Parts: sequence; structure tokens; C-alpha cells
Amino acid sequence: MPSRALYAGWRSAGVGMTRTEGRCGADPAGVRTGYSARAESARWEATAISVTILIGGQWGDEGKGKVIDLLAGSVDMVVRSQGGDNAGHTVVVDGQTFKFRLIPSGMLSPTTTCVIGHGMVVNPKAFLAELDELHAHGVSTDNLVISDRAHMVMPYHPVFDQLGEQQRGDDRLGTTHRGIGPAYEDKVRRVGFRIGDLTKPVFLEKKLRFVLRLKNESLTRLYGHEPFDERAILDEYLGYAERLAPHIRDIYPIIQGALREDRRILCEGAQGAMLDLDLGTYPYVTSSAPTAGGALTGSGIPPSKVTRTIGVFKAYTTRVGYGPFPTELEDNLGELIREVGAEFGTVTGRARRVGWFDAAVARYSVCTNGIDSMVITKVDVLDQIESLRIATGYVSKGEHWDHPMSNISHLKHAEPVYEEMPGWMSSTRDCRRFEDLPRACQAYVERLGELAEAPVDVVSVGPDREHTLVRRPML
Ligand code: IMP
Repeated sequence: MPSRALYAGWRSAGVGMTRTEGRCGADPAGVRTGYSARAESARWEATAISVTILIGGQWGDEGKGKVIDLLAGSVDMVVRSQGGDNAGHTVVVDGQTFKFRLIPSGMLSPTTTCVIGHGMVVNPKAFLAELDELHAHGVSTDNLVISDRAHMVMPYHPVFDQLGEQQRGDDRLGTTHRGIGPAYEDKVRRVGFRIGDLTKPVFLEKKLRFVLRLKNESLTRLYGHEPFDERAILDEYLGYAERLAPHIRDIYPIIQGALREDRRILCEGAQGAMLDLDLGTYPYVTSSAPTAGGALTGSGIPPSKVTRTIGVFKAYTTRVGYGPFPTELEDNLGELIREVGAEFGTVTGRARRVGWFDAAVARYSVCTNGIDSMVITKVDVLDQIESLRIATGYVSKGEHWDHPMSNISHLKHAEPVYEEMPGWMSSTRDCRRFEDLPRACQAYVERLGELAEAPVDVVSVGPDREHTLVRRPML
């Protein structure tokens, strides 16, 4: 089990320190003006951190798990607010790999309370399997709570997910088949089951009778699928209830108590801003809000309490599943980046699609989420590429766009406008400070921040904690 000392290193690495030098001086074409490095630094110094939101700024898999793990020792609470076991956060500690799906990645910090917020959809079976896995590694889960308001993924949800995808044929979304969309659909239709229902067997039985009739009707009539058996579901879920019970809570007093006591809270985002149901590339999105707004509604934290929003971005772009991806590389270079970056899904093992960094996407994420601190991960994956491209915007139907347009068929065919930068052609793995990075690498990273309009505070050059170069502490 990781010791407290692992986190102490991060604390002394600079929590509370400040950085005053200017940044983001350039004003690239099409980029919002008025960004003042001095004003930003002053604001930074004046802010006492209480609530930090951390989200993925692209299409997910940006390396959030690693960053959350680094920060978890410096916060009192980590809260997940959306998604379910469609997420896969990998954390490597002392060469040991931990894979989180539902449980906040902060669980490795023994002093941190981890909360599964009510915006999540929880598959109890997957949750218990993850719990067992953590216990097998000697990780304590005593500080883990699940909101009684969180919805449950029921056994029929993954089935509907798969059947729905099959029915779409060529227009399928490429979901993770975890039943996430159908579970959120039921929540919105107000026929969902909440974790708290597990503590009310009579209510659960009565409601299941009603809901299962609807489900079985669709399954048999629409899809010709076998119906689900009510007794079997009840037995299975009531069986889970006993093991889940110690973790089930009304999280309102827990979150509000922490806020009142000025505790440090980290909101852990899953997926990425471009998979947001509203802001993302609809319909090629997930069914929740992996944005700063979603972090709040899914936890009950008010916006006025947010002091920092961190966006995690890969030094290039990846996405799994279908949907527009203007900077996609479908050639040997894309293959190389996929291999070097081990771009295969944590949950499904699918090969991720790979492309150049899209600054139009990054800026859109920064602006719509209020990201004021960027983390750039997997910079080392680009170590052996001679020349790098960054998309600053697109041309579609003869018009210039500085952000992803809502018409996804236009976005799919949009021509990226690229800037070219020289690569550094040397290993960055042993660099421990930003200043140790090759000049061309520093310039590339700085340019990403300039174009996205947010300061790059952390750069990651490998999977381990020691591969994290902190320019300005995030908390
Ligand atoms: P769903 O979330 O399983 O419904 O899948 C919808 C879309 O979101 C698909 O394109 C998935 O590949 C994508 N997606 C869901 N979770 C993740 C994630 O954690 N990382 C990256 N993509 C994801």
C-alpha cells in the first residue's frame, strides 16, 4: 500500500509556493485578447484553494488518473461527479499499476475521503470487483462513500447498450457497452434505480416489477431478446446491498461540512470535455457532463466555491469510438504514436485513434470550462518525431473557424489549419524540471498554452510520479 511519504514529497514540492513570471505573451491570430500574465499571477497568489476541478480537455484518456493521484495527498476529499465504469484511470505507483473505473483515483491516499457523487451511474457488480482488487493490493477503502442519490447500472442496461449500437449499424457511436447511456436515459425518464434503493427492499421490488415490464417489452418486441427475470435481479442486487451498505451515505452533509471547514476538495472528472453531451461532438459523446459544470451538479458543490479549474491535455490528441476528429493521423506516423504512447483503451482494449494537438479544441475547453491551469501529458511520446503540427483552427466551406463547430458533418470534413514546429529528437524521460527539457520541447509546450490561452503548469514525460515536471503548483 502506498505510504503517506509518497504524498509528502508532492506537498513539499511546492504547495503554497507561487510563481510570478509572465507567460502567454503572444497573441496568436484568432485568439482572445486581454489575457494578462501579471493579473493571472496576482489572482493566483491571492487565491486560497478550497475546491479544485480537474477535467480532461480533449476526448478523454488524457492521463487524469496520474494527476489526481499526485494531488490526492494534498486534498481532504476527492469527488467523482459523472460517468460510470466506462472510465478507466490508470495510476502507476512504484512500478505497480492501479486501474480505476468507478472509484476515485484518490483512493491510494490513505488520508483522503473519496466520494462517488450523485451524478454518477454505478454498476454495483463492477464497483465490488474494483473494491476487491484494491483490497488485494492492500489499499484501504474505509474512506470511500457513495451517494445514495447516485443511479445504478442495472443488468439490462449493458444489453440495451449493445443492442442499440447494433441497431445503429454504420452510424454506431462506439460506446464502451457498459450500459452508461441507457442508465442515464432511465434517470432522465425517471425510471432509474438509485443506490439508496438498495436499502429499501420492498420499494425496490415494487418498482422493479413496474420498470422491468417496460424493459422486457422493449427487449422482446423490439430486439427479440430474452426477457430478464425479476427474482434473479432482486436476489443479485439485494446480495450487493450488504457489501455496499457501509459506503452508502447522504453526501450532502459530508460535502457541505467539508466546504464549511474550508477543506480542500478535488473534483475528479472522467472522460473529456469533447465527450460532453452538450458541448461535445454530439451524438458521438458520452451521456454525462464531463465538464466543470458537471463536476458541480454531480456533487452538490456550488460554483462560488470553485477556486481553480485544471485541464489535462495530451501533447497530441486521441479519441476512442467514432465521431469527427479533424487532426486524425491515419498513416504510419499515427501508428507510431499509438505504439509509443500505448494508446489502447483501459476499459475495452480498443486501439485509440491518434492525431495532432488540436488547439481549437483545447481553447474551446479552456473557455467553456474556465480552465486556469493546464497539465500537458505524454510529451515524451513525441520525443522521436522530427516535425510537429498543431492545429490552430479549421477551414470549412471556405470559412475560417477558431473553434469546433456544432455541425459535426462539417467538423468531420473541416481542413485543419496547422502550424509546424521542429521536434527535439531526444529523450525527455530523465528530465525532472521544465528547464531540463530540450529547447524545442519547451517551445512546443509553451505554444500549446499560448494557443489554448491558459498557462501550462505541469508537464508529464512518463507514467510515474517522478516523471512530472511542476512549474507552478496546482494547489
Ligand atoms: P459510453 O460512455 O460508453 O456511452 O460511450 C460513448 C463514447 O464515449 C464512446 O465514443 C466512448 O469510446 C467514449 N468514452 C466513454 N468513456 C470514455 C473514457 O473514459 N475515455 C475515452 N472515451 C470514453
